[in-house]
Amino acid sequence: MRDKKKILLSGVKPTGVPHIGNYFGMMKQVINLQNDYEESLIFVADYHALNTIQNKEEMKKNIFEVALDYLSIGLDPKKVTIFKQSDVPQHTELALIFNTITTMPYLMRAHAFKDAQAKNKEISIGTFDYPMLMAADILMYDTDIVPVGADQKQHIEIARDTAEKFNRIFGEEFKLPKPLILEDVATVPGIDGQKMSKSYNNTIPLFAEDDEIDKLVMSIVTNSKGVKEAKNAETDTVFALHKLFSDKELVDIKKRYEEGNIGYKESKEILAKNIKKFIKPFREKRVELNKDKIVIINMLKENGEKIREKAEKKMKRVREKIGVIL
Ligand code: ADP
Ligand code: TRP
Repeated sequence: MRDKKKILLSGVKPTGVPHIGNYFGMMKQVINLQNDYEESLIFVADYHALNTIQNKEEMKKNIFEVALDYLSIGLDPKKVTIFKQSDVPQHTELALIFNTITTMPYLMRAHAFKDAQAKNKEISIGTFDYPMLMAADILMYDTDIVPVGADQKQHIEIARDTAEKFNRIFGEEFKLPKPLILEDVATVPGIDGQKMSKSYNNTIPLFAEDDEIDKLVMSIVTNSKGVKEAKNAETDTVFALHKLFSDKELVDIKKRYEEGNIGYKESKEILAKNIKKFIKPFREKRVELNKDKIVIINMLKENGEKIREKAEKKMKRVREKIGVIL
C-alpha cells in the first residue's frame, strides 16, 4: 500500500486500438496502482484527440473503447473513476486561464511542438496549446501522482511550472504534481525495433487475435545471425519483448542466445506463444463486456456528472482568485 491520502490521475487519448507498448508503459501501472490511492481518476482525453480525430463516428467509437479496454484489463470501476474530459468543460475553461499566463516562446520549447516544426508540419492551435489543456486536466484535482510513459515527462513539468506561475501571481491554489514513470519498461520496442507507436505502424495490438499475433511476431526485424551463432540478447528486439512476456523462460533464453543455441525463428515462436497466452483472458473479457455497451455508456455519464461537481468547486476558487467574481 502506497499512500492512501494521495490523488492519482491520468488521461488516455482515444486515438484508436491500444498496443502492448501502451499497456506496459501506462495501462498496467494504472491497474496496479488502483488500490493505493485515496482517489484514482482516469479520463478519456477526447478534446486532446480532437486535434487528430476529426470524424464523428470514429471519435464515438474510440471514446467508448478506451473505457471498454481499461475495464477489460482489470480496471475496477469501484476503485477508479473513469470519465470523459468533454463532460467536464471546466478543463477547457482552466486551460484558457493558463493560456493567459503562459508565453508563446515557453510553449515553443515543448518537444511535441519542436518535432512538428522540425518536420515542417502545420500544426493546429489545439496541438500547440496541448500542454496547457493537459496542465488543466492535472491541476484541477490537486493531483499528486500522474502515471505516464517517459515521453510525457515534459508535459508534467509544464504542468508544474504552470501551477507555480499561477500560485505566484494569484496566490496559492494548485498542488505540484509528480510523474510516475516505470523506468525499466519505459519504452517498449515495436516490430521494426523503433519505439512501438501507432504512428510508426509497428505495433502489436493489445487485444489481437492469435493469428495476428503469430504474423506480427514472425515479422519482427532481427539481424541475420544463424542458429549456431552467439547473439547479443540486449540488442535484440525479440528478446526485449521476451522480458515482458517470457518470465519463466527468460534466463534460459538468454543463455541460449549467448551460447549460439537458438535461432530467431524459435525465439519468435516462444514469444508468440507467450504473448497469445497473455492476451487471451483480456480479449475474452472484452468480448463479454462489449455485449452490454449501455452499462459502460451510463457509467461514463454518471461519473462525468460527479466529477463536474468537483471541478466546479475548484473553478469557483480559481475564478475568485483571478477576480472575475464580483
Ligand atoms: P502512440 O505512440 O502509439 O500514439 P500514445 O502517444 O497514445 O501512443 O501513448 C499513450 C500512452 O502509452 C502514453 O502514456 C505513452 O507514454 C505510452 N506509450 C506509448 N508507446 C509506448 C511504448 N512504446 N513504450 C512504453 N510506453 C508507451
Ligand atoms: N498527453 C497524454 C498522452 O498522450 C494524454 C493526457 C492528456 C494526459 N491529459 C493528461 C495524461 C493528463 C496524464 C495526465 O498520453
